Formats: sequence, structure tokens, C-alpha cells
Amino acid sequence: MSKRLSLKISTVLASALLSVSVSPAMAQSPADLDDLEIAHVAYVADNIDIQYAHLALALSQNPAIHEFAKTMIRDHEAVNAQALGLLQRLGVQAKDNFLSQKLISDSIAIIDKMSQLRGDEFDRFYAENEWGYHKAVNALVGDVFIPNIDNSEVKKLFEAGLKIFIAHEKHAEMMVGKLN
Ligand SMILES: [Fe+2]
Repeated sequence: MSKRLSLKISTVLASALLSVSVSPAMAQSPADLDDLEIAHVAYVADNIDIQYAHLALALSQNPAIHEFAKTMIRDHEAVNAQALGLLQRLGVQAKDNFLSQKLISDSIAIIDKMSQLRGDEFDRFYAENEWGYHKAVNALVGDVFIPNIDNSEVKKLFEAGLKIFIAHEKHAEMMVGKLN
């Protein structure tokens, strides 16, 4: 390798490493997010599930779907209120990041699709989406967020939330089973 090329490569590498270490705001992996970014992802994820639930209450005629959707609104609103209370007490604000933005753009596509469905088609889509969504978010919270959270109070809140959301995941799985 020529001296000039190797110098160029090491300069590129160094600037790449530098850009990772000096701008954590540019984190592109869930494992790189800090507590305030993790809190924002969770807040957004809760709000998305609440939005899906309101759509289900508006469009489904199925009492089991309504009961599940009401549980989602109650539980996710409660967790979000607790999270906001804690952040306020700590005197900090959740921080927007690539993952909350991705969750929002994915949810817009899902809401768009779901809004066009009716009857059994809607119910099955909603139930399957709830099962998949809780499975994915619970894995993220349990495997990536909780081990990475620094603040012990934030960690405790996530641990308590995860227990509730695992119950949602099981409830959604049961709902999918009954609809099929
Ligand atoms: Fe939920």
C-alpha cells in the first residue's frame, strides 16, 4: 500500500471514530442511546400504541378488541405519566433521536394501512400488529435498554413497565389465536 493511501485511510478512520465519539447525538444504534434518548423512544412507543388503540375503538366492532384497546390506553398513558413525572423531578427532558423518528414513520404507514381495513380484516391486522409490536419493543427494552440505562430510577421505571408490556404481548398473542 502506498504511504499516501495508507495515510488517507487512517485519516478517514480517525475522523469516523472521532465523529462517533464527539457526537453521541448522531447515535445510529439502539445500544448507543443515552437515558434521555431511551426515555424518548419509550414515550413515542407508548403514544403509538395509544394511537393504534384509538383507531381500534373507532373502527372495530369486536368487544374483545375494544377491551384490549382500552387496556392499552389505560396502561400506556399511566406509564407515560410516570415517566414524565420522573423526568420533571430529575429536571431533564427526553431527547428526540433516530429511533423515535423511525418508530413514528413506521407507525404512520401502519395507521394508513389499518385505516383502510374493516371488520375481521381490521381485527386480525390490529391484533397481529399489537402482538408483533409488543414483541419487538419488549425485546428492545429488555435486551438493550434496561442493561444500558444509567439512572437507577429510570431503570426501575423501565423494569416495571416491561412487566406490564409482557402481559400485553401475551394478551395480544391470545387475541390473535382467537381470531384465527
Ligand atoms: Fe401495550
